[in-house]
Amino acid sequence: MKILVTGGTGYIGSHTVVELQNAGYEVVVIDNFDNSHPSVLLNIEKITGKKVVFENIDIRDKKSLREFVSKNKDINAVIHFAASKAVGESVENPLKYYENNVGGTLNLLEAMQENGIENIVFSSSCTVYGEATPPVNEDAPIMLAQSPYGNTKQICEEVLLDQTNASNLKTVSLRYFNPVGAHDSALIGELPLGIPNNLVPYITQTAIGKREILTVFGNDYNTPDGTCIRDFIHVVDLAKAHIKAVEYLSNKKYKSSYSVFNLGTGKGSSVLEVIQTFEKVTQVKLNYKIGPRRGGDITQIYAGCEKAEKELGWKTERDLENCMKTAWDWEKKLESLLIS
Ligand code: NAD
Ligand code: WQD
Repeated sequence: MKILVTGGTGYIGSHTVVELQNAGYEVVVIDNFDNSHPSVLLNIEKITGKKVVFENIDIRDKKSLREFVSKNKDINAVIHFAASKAVGESVENPLKYYENNVGGTLNLLEAMQENGIENIVFSSSCTVYGEATPPVNEDAPIMLAQSPYGNTKQICEEVLLDQTNASNLKTVSLRYFNPVGAHDSALIGELPLGIPNNLVPYITQTAIGKREILTVFGNDYNTPDGTCIRDFIHVVDLAKAHIKAVEYLSNKKYKSSYSVFNLGTGKGSSVLEVIQTFEKVTQVKLNYKIGPRRGGDITQIYAGCEKAEKELGWKTERDLENCMKTAWDWEKKLESLLIS
């Protein structure tokens, strides 16, 4: 089985390439390094002992993408990670997000159709649910998007559904909750450019001294400790779900040619619980303060994951402690990796 991974040098993509290679799949990666580093390729090879077949392609470049896909007609499935993902930036520069996330997906679907490639796994997000009562299942209503980024995920899901209905395409849309942690080897992990927006990289960067202090955005929410609640899922668990999704498509296990699955742990953790777990696991005291709420944050969300467990045969294996341990090991190793 040959799998094309778009955005395969990114955070979730790189971990998925490792799991695919370890499971014996032939993997082809494309990326434009917009939000990743070429050293990731070498580090994947160090983990799996297998060379990564890679081409530097921007999915917005329709001509290059079509040429590439037409030379690789034997691809059995595409896992489509390539996208821009910074919520704040999408508010400031919406056209970039619509062009990259929606335009790039259109180019990819066109190239797949031209070359008879019929299976796609798409990276969607729990952001499509907005504020809902947890646990949130796949049949929860899609809410008006809070940001252009969130809207690109909703639009892509709609485009994929329409194209699935109109052609031989088979689609699995995976709605990720909050991916965190890193590979056990600490050779790959999340590489936030500039100041991180997300909680866990902000925690690890503060602990290592790159940031002075972490601000907890609000402790006056209607939750047990007053801070927001999220469903933090280990990136390796998440990566493994993509293998299950590819199997689901290739073994034709689906009831409908368009399927949606939540990928989460089913358990909510508050911001303060995450901080306390980090301190416990690493024995590092974190410098943090309570600040005002961040605009646009929802109070709490966590996944209902029964569908993924029943139909994909997947559930998470790692806990929050392992998420914090691996995120910290990665942060400690990061500098030396980028230099080498
Ligand atoms: P990431 O930025 O680490 O990885 C995305 C990769 O895509 C990067 O390597 C980037 O260089 C590449 N890329 C971006 N635009 C491209 C283009 N035009 N052509 C080729 N390559 C391009 O992000 P990630 O966290 O690994 O996220 C992967 C996917 O999962 C994205 O679609 C993201 O929206 C989605 N997602 C992420 C999260 C999260 O919190 N990390 C949550 C839900 C959904
Ligand atoms: C988690 C909690 C913050 C930073 C985002 C995207 C979402 C999805 C996942 C892609 C919140 C708090 C954070 C800090 C803090 N991505 N926090 N201090 O907001 O749940 O989701 O990433 O699809 O679309 O919106 O994740 O990690 O930013 O925040 O107190 O410095 O941590 O307020 O309650 P979020 P996050």
